[in-house]
Amino acid sequence: MPVLGFGTLIPDPAETITATRDALEAGFRHFDCAERYRNEREVGKALQAGLAAGGLAREDVFVTSKLWNTNHRPERVEPAFEASLERLGLNYLDLYLSHTPFAFQPGEEQDPRDPSGNILYDRDVNLLETWRAMERLVDGGRCRAIGLSDIALDGLIPIYEAARIKPAVVQVEAHPYMPETELLEFCKTNGIVFLAFAPLGHGIRPGPIDDPVVAAISARVGQTPAQVLLAWAVQRGTALLTTPRTAARARENFNISALPDEAFDEINRIQTRQRFNDVVNTGSPGFIPQGR
Ligand SMILES: NC(=O)c1ccc[n+]([C@@H]2O[C@H](COP(=O)([O-])OP(=O)(O)OC[C@H]3O[C@@H](n4cnc5c(N)ncnc54)[C@H](OP(=O)(O)O)[C@@H]3O)[C@@H](O)[C@H]2O)c1
Repeated sequence: MPVLGFGTLIPDPAETITATRDALEAGFRHFDCAERYRNEREVGKALQAGLAAGGLAREDVFVTSKLWNTNHRPERVEPAFEASLERLGLNYLDLYLSHTPFAFQPGEEQDPRDPSGNILYDRDVNLLETWRAMERLVDGGRCRAIGLSDIALDGLIPIYEAARIKPAVVQVEAHPYMPETELLEFCKTNGIVFLAFAPLGHGIRPGPIDDPVVAAISARVGQTPAQVLLAWAVQRGTALLTTPRTAARARENFNISALPDEAFDEINRIQTRQRFNDVVNTGSPGFIPQGR
């Protein structure tokens, strides 16, 4: 898996297409998608056009999608996977993740709620049953690897221990304000790729991108604050997802270089702790990009 991943959580369909093309052109070869983002068709279209224009083959890119919470019942897993493939216009996925460990009431409504606005969870399926159905996708040959997203260590361990096919990847929020060190250590020990989302703190200001330590390093090493944060993520042994929405930002976020050791250590010593996305607690996407 290429360590630098482009995230496709972009609500506007036209912008999804241009940003995906720009990311491919800037050099990104890892694309993170999800049925929940409701834009797999646009991502698929952009990838097909971009691959053809760049003389690239399907094998040159790594494409992930995710099973949404309403499809956790085992009999719904394969149809959801096939539907993502169809929308993306692909005949295999490199990685398929359970989007969150929370099962919602099955059905077409992605955000099922009762009249008081409470999420309707599905108590009739557990994550291991969903995982078993995901293992069968790997057996089927059209899914190269499976993993988990928005999961804490105490949720990961039982799945890891019971799994016939071990999770290849764990995707969680991670940045200097949410380093998830214990989870990262577990992943390193057990050969699981730790894939950080929100490496820039979702771009929420103030956030890690405005941190005085990051700003001082940025000035010293001549990289932008975003480049410093992305370099830090790679240097600590994680893969990452970022969502530049312009060609200039795509080039900026792709062209990162290693930080001096002392700068890396200074970022490790930042004490601020802040989670920007509550999805890990509820399964409900806690983050709606500003202004959309
Ligand atoms: N598993 C999950 O539950 C989950 C949850 C969230 C995200 N994700 C995945 O992770 C991907 C990454 O998204 P993210 O929001 O976490 O990424 P991020 O890179 O932390 O944040 C993206 C935001 O940062 C800003 N930004 C991007 N490049 C910048 C730069 N060079 N300088 C300054 N600001 C910059 C963008 O601002 P503008 O608004 O100005 O463009 C955008 O709002 C998503 O697309 C999705 O694939 C997964």
